[in-house]
Amino acid sequence: MSVPPTILVFDSGLGGLTVLREIVRARPDAHYVYVADDAFFPYGHHGEDQIIARVVPLIGELIAAHRPDLVVIACNTASTLVMSHLRERYEVPFVGTVPAIKPACAGSTTRRVSVLGTRGTVKREYTRALIRDFAQGCEVTLVGSADLAALAEAALSGEDVSDDLIAAELAPCFVGAGASTAMRTDTIVLACTHYPLLMDRLVKLAPWPVAWIDPAPAIARRVADLLKGPGRRADHAGAEIVFTSRKPHTLSEALMPFFGGRIPA
Ligand code: DGL
Repeated sequence: MSVPPTILVFDSGLGGLTVLREIVRARPDAHYVYVADDAFFPYGHHGEDQIIARVVPLIGELIAAHRPDLVVIACNTASTLVMSHLRERYEVPFVGTVPAIKPACAGSTTRRVSVLGTRGTVKREYTRALIRDFAQGCEVTLVGSADLAALAEAALSGEDVSDDLIAAELAPCFVGAGASTAMRTDTIVLACTHYPLLMDRLVKLAPWPVAWIDPAPAIARRVADLLKGPGRRADHAGAEIVFTSRKPHTLSEALMPFFGGRIPA
């Protein structure tokens, strides 16, 4: 029987757990290393050159330390910049996370779609090109949020995050208030992996119902395709979580569901 593959999932913080959760469902047998670059969080507040200079060598160190079979960059703010640099530099296969503009626009009935991401992601040429290529005639509103990723981390850590703070970040996504239903935003792309951590709150605070597009299931399918083989064997090595700040973490039990019930070491 072959050895279970090691999959390294990387994000600036805990948002990539929403991608990890789907990958674990697709490949429950794999060994997982989740890396949160919390020493540099939030990426949305850094310039493009700074992110490239930070992430590219860091991924090299992580590959040397953990020898993964595949690396997932579970962060839009980084993926929209670093994927070509990583693929040029390292041999391991990479899967990135970029705004799901194509499926969102394909599914929108009102032809009004909003993309909610970090300020960095919505400014990227990569994101603008996705809109040029795949908007399919939809009116796409880009909404750069300064604080929603940090609010999602706070909520996951058990802190009280008020509805007002979340609703304020969300409000610009809803275009057409007062207009008929046919003229309003009906689809929102979650272009930051942190945001699905707040899914229940987003649904509750939305001024009207919309389709929320989370790319995590599609990323998990891509990972499963690249890894070949059904991989049914249980992974006895468990899962690991690494924080680049090296601060001790106390969240193991809260994070278990994202790791398919395993307690990350
Ligand atoms: N989770 C990251 C993303 O998908 C961003 C959060 C941050 O600003 O670091 O874009």
